[in-house]
Amino acid sequence: MSFNLQKIRNDFPILSRKVNGYPLVYLDNAATSQKPQQVIDAIVDYYSRYNANIHRGVHTLSQEATDAYEAARKKIQTHFNAKEAYEIIFTAGTTHGINLVANGFSEILKKGDEIIVSAMEHHSNIVPWQMLCEKTGAILKVIPMNEEGVLVFSEYEKLLSQKTKLVFVNHISNALGTINPIEIIIEKAHEYGASVLIDGAQSCSHIKPDLQKLNVDFYVTSAHKMCGPTGVGILYMKEEWGNKLAPYQGGGEMIAEVTFEKTTYAGLPHKFEAGTPNICGGIAFGAAIDYLNRIGFEAIEAHETELLKYATEKLLEIEGLKIYGTGPDKTSVVSFNIEGIHPYDIGTIVDKLGIAVRTGHHCAQPIMDFYKIPGTVRASFAFYNTLEEVDALVNAVKKAKMMLS
Ligand SMILES: Cc1ncc(COP(=O)(O)O)c(C=O)c1O
Repeated sequence: MSFNLQKIRNDFPILSRKVNGYPLVYLDNAATSQKPQQVIDAIVDYYSRYNANIHRGVHTLSQEATDAYEAARKKIQTHFNAKEAYEIIFTAGTTHGINLVANGFSEILKKGDEIIVSAMEHHSNIVPWQMLCEKTGAILKVIPMNEEGVLVFSEYEKLLSQKTKLVFVNHISNALGTINPIEIIIEKAHEYGASVLIDGAQSCSHIKPDLQKLNVDFYVTSAHKMCGPTGVGILYMKEEWGNKLAPYQGGGEMIAEVTFEKTTYAGLPHKFEAGTPNICGGIAFGAAIDYLNRIGFEAIEAHETELLKYATEKLLEIEGLKIYGTGPDKTSVVSFNIEGIHPYDIGTIVDKLGIAVRTGHHCAQPIMDFYKIPGTVRASFAFYNTLEEVDALVNAVKKAKMMLS
């Protein structure tokens, strides 16, 4: 499929609505993406034609639902180039996947073991590890970042030692847009025998990661950032971890055999999928992946790079505007403030003009503390945004500045 922007926009019914009398300009894609008709249709189709519980039924509807759910898992495996489909565990999203891994490591880590996170993590990649440290006596270390919002690699190398057991880094920062050099981060951690979890919540809508090539131990993401529904995501886990990690939750689906004396667990992926899953969500996630691949990640990246360049240039023409996250490897996120104006006030005014941006700390308070700011205005662009929408944002921010200065 060639990159026909108008045709792509026609796939997203929400993009033709108005907000406060103005055409919606949706620039909050880092929080969640909009959904194309193809994904909405997959949801309606499931509930209209073959809604049933999976894996346990012999009846036709159950088998159809099981086949569709497992076909989605296979599609996701192919997309991320995992070696086996069973290494893809369906979760409720990135946060769930991270907590699942943290729970598993609570029985592996010992007092004095060290775990490393980066200075630019989302709270969901900080809090579970702090809880894990409290439980196990492990120590949390932090890779610092510089003014540009780029991790200081030499400091990371200094933190690594034989005590390091785990390294957790986001692929792309949600607050800054920085793309982290995960290939080399993973390689270095492995030299010390440490395992690595990459948080791909922000990357998978922009980049197609090759999990076998990355040689990563765990990779998590959420469908809703990738044009799929909320409440579903995946945890990729290398097969060897399937035996080493304890299950997160007990219940149906995750067992091999249950007696009152003892329960034995199923293998991957079911060991970590207790209870009835988000069946419809998994199937619609597969439809979203099909949709993105039909557009093509090269085309997505090229268009988003153009949006980022144009938005950065135009916004910087506004006097007193400062962008946070100015490193050389960035995705289409522009986080900014205007001197003397609270980000919340800018967000409120631009909303009156139909423009959706996010304001606040973006669940990354340590980044805001680093820059000594309460938060930022964040415009995050997707492949369905246009250069005209960038102009609308810039004009609205200028108007807000005039009103608030
Ligand atoms: C980098 C990053 N990690 C984790 C999350 C949490 O994702 P979810 O709320 O879908 O679990 C987000 C959400 O914005 C994120 O941007």
